[in-house]
Amino acid sequence: MTGANGGLGRAISAALRQEGCSLVVTGRRAEQVEAVARDVSGRAVVADLAVRSDLYRLLEEAGEVDIVVVNAALPASGDVAEWDQADIDKAFEVNLGSAIAMTRALLPQFRARGSGHFVFVSSLSGKVASRGGALYSATKYGLRGFAAGLRCDLYGSGIGCSLVNPGFVRDAGMFVDAGGKTPLNLGTVTSKRCAAAVVKVIRQNRAELDVAPLYLRLATTLGALTPGLSAPVQARLDPGLSDTLVRGQRTKR
Ligand SMILES: NC(=O)c1ccc[n+]([C@@H]2O[C@H](COP(=O)([O-])OP(=O)(O)OC[C@H]3O[C@@H](n4cnc5c(N)ncnc54)[C@H](OP(=O)(O)O)[C@@H]3O)[C@@H](O)[C@H]2O)c1
Repeated sequence: MTGANGGLGRAISAALRQEGCSLVVTGRRAEQVEAVARDVSGRAVVADLAVRSDLYRLLEEAGEVDIVVVNAALPASGDVAEWDQADIDKAFEVNLGSAIAMTRALLPQFRARGSGHFVFVSSLSGKVASRGGALYSATKYGLRGFAAGLRCDLYGSGIGCSLVNPGFVRDAGMFVDAGGKTPLNLGTVTSKRCAAAVVKVIRQNRAELDVAPLYLRLATTLGALTPGLSAPVQARLDPGLSDTLVRGQRTKR
C-alpha cells in the first residue's frame, strides 16, 4: 500500500485491514508510516518512490504480494511555466513512473501464481482536466491509460487490475490539506468512501470506479465527451478554487 500515511492512504489501509489483509505500508515520512503500521498491525517500509533504488528495496522488503494499491501521488498543481523541470520529472516519477516500475517488477510473481490484483488510485482529474491541473492531469490520464492497457494484457490471466477515481475528498488528503473547500461541501466525498471503493474494485475486479456524488460523476462523463466546453464552463464555475489549491499545494512538490 503506497502513500499509506496520506489522507486516503490511512483510510484505505484501515479498510483493507478490516477485510483481513496483512499490510505492508509505505511512504516517505518514517514516523507517520510507522504510526499507520501500528494502527493496522502491519509492517512499515519507508521509501521514496522518486528514487528507483528505493522502490526496488521496498519491493524486496515487502516480499510476496497479493494485492498492490498504488496510491501515492503529488498534487502537481500550478502553471507549468512556474515549475522547475526537476520537480516536473519528480511528479511524473511519483505519480506514474513508479506505478509502471512497480507493476513491471511485480508481474512475474503474479503471473507465476496466476493471481494478484493491481489497484491504481487515480482521480476524476484523470478524465477531465481543470485550471492549474495540467501536470497532475497528465500523470493521472497516463495512469488511467496504463491501467486500461494492463487490464487488457491481463485478461483471462487470473490477475485483476482496477482504477479508482476519487473526486474532491473533504475530510483528509491533498484537497482539504490545501484549504480546498466547496460551498456546503457540495460535490465532495469522504476518505472512507474512497477506501470502500478500493475494497469494492478488488472484490468485483471492476475496471474502474468513480468516487463522487452522482451529479459530479455525470458532469465528469459529459466533460470527457466535450473537452472543448471544459475551459469556458470551469472559468464560470471556479470561484478561486484552483488558485487556492495551487497556493496550498506549493509545499508538496
Ligand atoms: N484528496 C483528494 O481530494 C484526492 C482526489 C482525487 C484523487 N486523489 C488521489 O488519492 C491518492 C492519495 O491522495 P491523498 O489525498 O491521500 O494525498 P496526500 O494526503 O498528500 O498523501 C500523499 C501520499 O503520497 C506519498 N508520497 C508523496 N510523494 C512520495 C514519494 N516521493 N515517495 C513515496 N511516497 C510519496 C505521501 O507520503 P509522505 O507524506 O511520507 O511524503 C503520502 O503518503 C493520490 O493518488 C491522489 O492523486 C486524492
